Formats: sequence, structure tokens, C-alpha cells
Amino acid sequence: HTEENVENLVIGSGYGGAVAALRLTQAGKKVVMLEMGLDWEKEGGKYKPFSNLITPKNNSTWLKKSTQAPMMNIAHFNKKFTGVLDRMDYENIKVYAGRGVGGGSLVNGGMAVQPKKSYFKEIFPNLNVDEFWDNYFPLAKKELQVNEIPEDYYAQTPYYKFARVGESEAHKAGFETVRVPNVYSFDYMKKEEADEVPKSALAKEVIYGNNHGKQSLEKTYIKKAIQTGLLHINDLHRVNYFQETENGYAVFVDVIDTEGLVVAKKTISCKNLFLNAGSIGTTKLLLTSRYKGKMNNFDASLGSDWGNNGNIMTGRNMVNTLFNRVENEATNTNHTTGTGSKQSTIPVSGIDNWEDKEHSFFAEISPLPMGVEVYTALYLVINKVPTPGTISYDPSVNDIQINWEKKNYKHTVENAKYFIKKMNKANGGTPAGLLWKGAYGPDICYHPLGGAVLGKTTDLYGRVKGYKNLYITDGALVPASIGVNPFLTITAIAEYCMKEIIKNDYSVSTK
Ligand code: FDA
Repeated sequence: HTEENVENLVIGSGYGGAVAALRLTQAGKKVVMLEMGLDWEKEGGKYKPFSNLITPKNNSTWLKKSTQAPMMNIAHFNKKFTGVLDRMDYENIKVYAGRGVGGGSLVNGGMAVQPKKSYFKEIFPNLNVDEFWDNYFPLAKKELQVNEIPEDYYAQTPYYKFARVGESEAHKAGFETVRVPNVYSFDYMKKEEADEVPKSALAKEVIYGNNHGKQSLEKTYIKKAIQTGLLHINDLHRVNYFQETENGYAVFVDVIDTEGLVVAKKTISCKNLFLNAGSIGTTKLLLTSRYKGKMNNFDASLGSDWGNNGNIMTGRNMVNTLFNRVENEATNTNHTTGTGSKQSTIPVSGIDNWEDKEHSFFAEISPLPMGVEVYTALYLVINKVPTPGTISYDPSVNDIQINWEKKNYKHTVENAKYFIKKMNKANGGTPAGLLWKGAYGPDICYHPLGGAVLGKTTDLYGRVKGYKNLYITDGALVPASIGVNPFLTITAIAEYCMKEIIKNDYSVSTK
């Protein structure tokens, strides 16, 4: 057991943690960051290369002996490993998260989507929306190196046939579509296709990590923070809980090895504590600390307003469209069938049905890169969460439970059914029952949000109510849904909070 003392401690290295680390170090502050997953860059990247979707190794999966993808898990491993993608299974909901320095940025699709202004306003009624549109979203986009797919490339590459087909089918069904910016470098992708560089997005790499091309956080925010010389990252450090001390907080940490076994215990004392373990991780730390660390001053809202961003995965089996189209082709209508045997893993288009008040949704046109034509269209549909769930702590198992029932996701299933029905009516096809029982996956959550919400559990700048020098700047701040893929919003909110925190809470101690 060792004891350490630091000034500024950041728990978690996803979007919230990365922004906190950069802005603190740029303000001249020393920062220690704790991350339960691996630093994938350390020792020359010895735990890489990351796995692709088709032949995953044990570095694909967080401490389980088989892959835990939303579908088609056939790979088994001899040994558990602190792999990059975690799935946390709760009753009625399976929550995915990235593990390692960079958090979700290591495993996500890179879609950098700005929410609808009106919905942002609805979700955050106390924030100055124009300030976000003028300052924080542009800043987040710049730092995250967001770029857009060039139209001429999109129009002709075989790797985006799935998206072009998805768009044209959506139009045929009367839906509007949008092109979506991304942090994956499209210059790099073009070079992949031209065989000038090693392939990544075009070689089925994404949810188990990208080896090239994606500007994940270790290449943007975290890299910049390291360059200040003031950031120290401890990987394989899993925080259990914390408690208040005279001068700040004592944080109780398990140091683990790559098989997940505890090899050391540490108590790290700090003055300023930044919780950025993601929606589930941060809420769990707070609830565990209330129980074990006797932190009884948290606001009563802690654990409420949790949601899955209205996530539901669904798909369409296009085999019967094949027969229709073969007929069409025979009559020379020049239709091509299916979504293509070559597919980029990086989504770039979406179906925007947000303005339809009865069925508001945003559907990401997702790839299903199996290397062969599978005649299947895949979508991640994002919805409002009118009835959020809650998270509570269960001392008997020392874990949280997510209280998430049919009432919380009923409307997402209804919206997805409406969407698929309309698509099939216009284009042919059947709900993709081969992917999931019943063809809909309302229990698959890629976008956990909330649990310690801005303006409720914290003040309007991420300061935890009831305590001093205790902050949250991650997805836990966003109540239940934001209507689009969330990391751009999480980054923008973290930037906004950190600006205020550094300006006001650090101004005295700098003197
Ligand atoms: P995030 O989860 O990123 O970071 C938290 C970090 O804290 C993790 O590194 C974790 O290991 C660490 N941690 C947790 N508990 C800890 C503890 N007790 N001790 C120490 N460390 C701890 N979004 C989007 O906008 N566009 C997209 O295309 C996608 N696609 C996508 C695909 C997949 C497969 C997933 C799983 C997710 C997405 N997302 C996405 C969602 C996006 O990645 C997610 O919203 C953000 O990563 C959340 O950022 P946070 O900073 O809140 O937490």
C-alpha cells in the first residue's frame, strides 16, 4: 500500500478528462490522471495493434473470454485481458465503453455531430446557447480535428456504397438525410484506398480500436497536454471511491495488471478532484463514495436523469429487395443491389427525422463490414428519452444498478418500428431478425448519458454541490439524451466548464 499526494487529480481519460487535463496544464498546473485501462501508446505500443472486427484478439475486449459486440460474438480467448472495449451488463441494458487512455475515443465511430439548437436549449435551459454555437462547439471541433468527407470521394468510392444506398433508400421513403462530420481523417482514408498507407477504417477496424487514421484523444487533447510537460498519466489505476479530508480528498485506488488482478493498492490525496469516468463511471464513483466514504452532502438528484440517448440498434434484411432488383435490373433500371462487400467502418451519413414531432429520431446509417455482401442495412437510431432512468448503489454487490424498464425505452422501439416499416414499404426488405431476436436491440447502449447532471448535482459549471474543489466535466452532466452522437457536446460542455473553473477557482492559488 502506497500513499501519494498531488494537487490536481483527474479520474478518467475520455473527452471530459482530456479537456480538463489540457486546460489545467495549459494554465500551468501539474496534473495526475488515473485511467483504469491501458495506455495503449506506452512502451512503443506493445499491446497494439488493435483488433479488427473479423479476427479479434483478446486486446479487443475488457476482461472477458469472448468478444462482447452487439452481434456475432464467435471469438474466444484463453486469457482475459484489459482490452479496449467494455460491455457492462445491467438488467435490461448493456452499456458499452472504451477502456484505455482516450476512453470512448478509442472505440467510437468518430461521428462529431452538433445537436439541434432547439433540442440543446430544451436539454440545457440555463445555458447560453449562442455562446455554445459561437465559441464552444467551434473550439471542440478544432481541437478534435473534425473533418468532412469530400463529396467527390463519397460519390464514387465502393467503401461508401452502403451509405449512398442508405441515403437513397431513405429519400425514397420520404426521409431527409444529412452528411455527418468525423474525426477520422478522410485524407488518410483516401490514401488507404490508393494503397499508399496501412489500412484501418478500410480494414474493418473500429469498435476494437483503430490503428491509423482516427484522430482519437491521445492524438489531440491528451497529446497537447503531455507536451506541456505537466501531465502524468497512470494507467491500469482503477479508482474504487473517495472521501473528503481536511485538505481535499483521499482517493482509493486498485492498481491492476493486464489480467485484471489487483497488484497494489494506493491512496492518493489531492486538493482538486476532477471526476471524468464517463456517465456510468462517474455516477458509480459518486454513489459508492456516498456509501463507503460517508460523503453525505451530495444533492438528492445524484443518480437521476440517466438515459441511453434513446439508442436502439436495428437493421433491414435486403434479400427480398435483391429479388425485386434483379427483376428491375432485368428490365434495365440500372439498380445495384445490397450494401457492398467493401465498407468503411466510419459512418458519415444520417437520417434526420427530428422535426417530425410524433416520431423524432436521428438514425445513423451504419456500416456492417463483413467483407462479403450480406444484404443487410444497419442503423443506430437515436431518440429523445422522455422518461429517464435512475442509477442506484447496491451495497450487497458493491456495484450500481441501472433502473431501466420498458417505460424508459418503449417509444424508441415504436420509433424504430415506424422507421423500418416505412423504409421497407418504399424499398422492400424485412426487419433484420438474423441480427437480433425480434430485429430490434433497444438494450444496446453506446451513448450513456447523465446520472450527475449539470445544474442539478453540480452547479452550472460542473462544480459538485455540497463540496469544494470537486468537479465533473464528462457525459454524466448531460441529462439522458442529446439527440445525436454525444462526444462533440460532451467536449464543448467540458470546455465551457473548465474555462470558468480555471478563471475563478484557480485565480487565487496562482498568485
Ligand atoms: P469516456 O467513457 O470516454 O471516458 C471515461 C474514462 O474513464 C474511460 O477511459 C474509462 O476507462 C475511465 N474510467 C471509468 N471508471 C474508472 C475508474 N473507476 N477508475 C479509473 N478510470 C475509470 N459518440 C459520438 O459522438 N460519435 C460516435 O461515432 C460514437 N460512436 C460510439 C461507438 C461505440 C462503440 C461506443 C462505445 C461509443 C460511441 N460514442 C460515440 C459515444 C462516445 O464515445 C461517448 O459518449 C464518450 O466517449 C463519453 O465521453 P466521457 O468523457 O463522458 O467518458
